[in-house]
Amino acid sequence: MRIFSGIQPTGVLHLGNYFGAVKQWVELQTPENFCIYCIVDYHALTNEDTVPEVLRKNRVELALDLLACGIDPERSILFVQSAVPEHTELCWILGCVTSFGDLTRMTQFKQKAKDQEFVNGGLFYYPVLQAADILLYLADHVPVGEDQLQHLELARRIARRFNWRFGEFFPEPEPILGKAPRLMSLADPSRKMSKSYGPDHYIGLMEPEEEIWRKVRTAVTDMGLTPGQEMSPGVANLFTLLELVAPAEVVEEFRQAHAAGKLLYKDLKETLFRYLMEALRPIRERRRELEEKGEVEEILAAGAEKARRIAREVLGEVRARVGLD
Ligand code: TYM
Repeated sequence: MRIFSGIQPTGVLHLGNYFGAVKQWVELQTPENFCIYCIVDYHALTNEDTVPEVLRKNRVELALDLLACGIDPERSILFVQSAVPEHTELCWILGCVTSFGDLTRMTQFKQKAKDQEFVNGGLFYYPVLQAADILLYLADHVPVGEDQLQHLELARRIARRFNWRFGEFFPEPEPILGKAPRLMSLADPSRKMSKSYGPDHYIGLMEPEEEIWRKVRTAVTDMGLTPGQEMSPGVANLFTLLELVAPAEVVEEFRQAHAAGKLLYKDLKETLFRYLMEALRPIRERRRELEEKGEVEEILAAGAEKARRIAREVLGEVRARVGLD
C-alpha cells in the first residue's frame, strides 16, 4: 500500500488523534508499505487563532510527539506540508475539477462556519488541499479517524473527475479506520474528543499525570446501576478506552460487573487510568529523550527533501496532462 496521512499542528496530540489515527500510522510502517506522514501547517492557517510563532513551535512539538509515538524516519517520510509548496499548486488544479456543490455539503465546513463570525475562504477550500496532499503522492490508503471520511470521499470524487477529464492517473484513495475511529470527550460524551471544545474535552498524551487523572476521575458516567442496564455514552466511551489499553480479561471482568449492576465507576476509572498511564509511559519517556537529542529539524528537512522529489515528479505529470507544461 501507498499510505498518506496528515495532522494539524494545533497544539496538543490527544488520545483521539493517537488511537484514531497515529497508532495506525505507526503499525502500518511495514516493509510492504510506503508511508508518508505530513504535518499540515497550511491547513492550520485556516484557524483564525493561529499566531506565527506558535505555529512554528507547534510544528516542531508535533513532530517530536509523532516520533515519540513511533513514527520512524528510517521507514517513513515525515515532513511539514509548507516545505513542499507543490501541495498548493496541485490544490489549485484540483479545485478546477471539484464541484462547488460538493464543497458546500462538507459537514466540517458547515459546522465551523456556523460557529464563527469571520469565515475565511481557506476553510471552504480546505478539503481540496486535503485531496491534493493525498493525490500528490499517488497514495491509495489513508489512515484516519471517522471525522475525515467525508473529506476522503470527496478526494475520491476529485480523483475520478480528474481522471475522466485528463485520462486515468490518480488512484482513488481508501480510508483505513482503526479500533477507535471516534473517541468521545470525557466531559461531554455526546461530542468527539477535540481541542476545539476546550481543554476539558481532550486528554493530551504529554499532559501532567495529575491532570490526566483529574480528567478521567471527573468523566461523565450515569446514575443508575440496574442489572442489564444499557451503557450510557460516557460509560461506553470509558469502556472503549479501557479496551484500547487493558488486557481482554480485565475488560471482560468489568463488562460482567456492569451487566450484573455491580460496577463501581470509581474502580473502572482507577483501572483505566492505571493502564492508560502504562500505555503512555514509554511514549512520554521517548519524547523527553528526543527533545534532548534535538535532531527533529534535520529529520523534517530530510523528510521534506524526499517528499518533494515525489511531489515534483507527480506535479510535472499533472501539469503536462492539463496543458500547463
Ligand atoms: P486532525 O489534525 O484534526 O486530526 C488528525 C487525525 O486524528 C483523527 N481524530 C480522531 N480520531 C478518533 N477520535 C477522535 N476524537 C479524533 N479526533 C481526531 C482525525 O480523524 C485525523 O485522522 N483534515 C485533517 C488533516 C489532513 C489530512 C490530510 C488527513 C490534512 N490533509 C490528508 C489525511 C490525509 C485533520 O484536520 O486532522
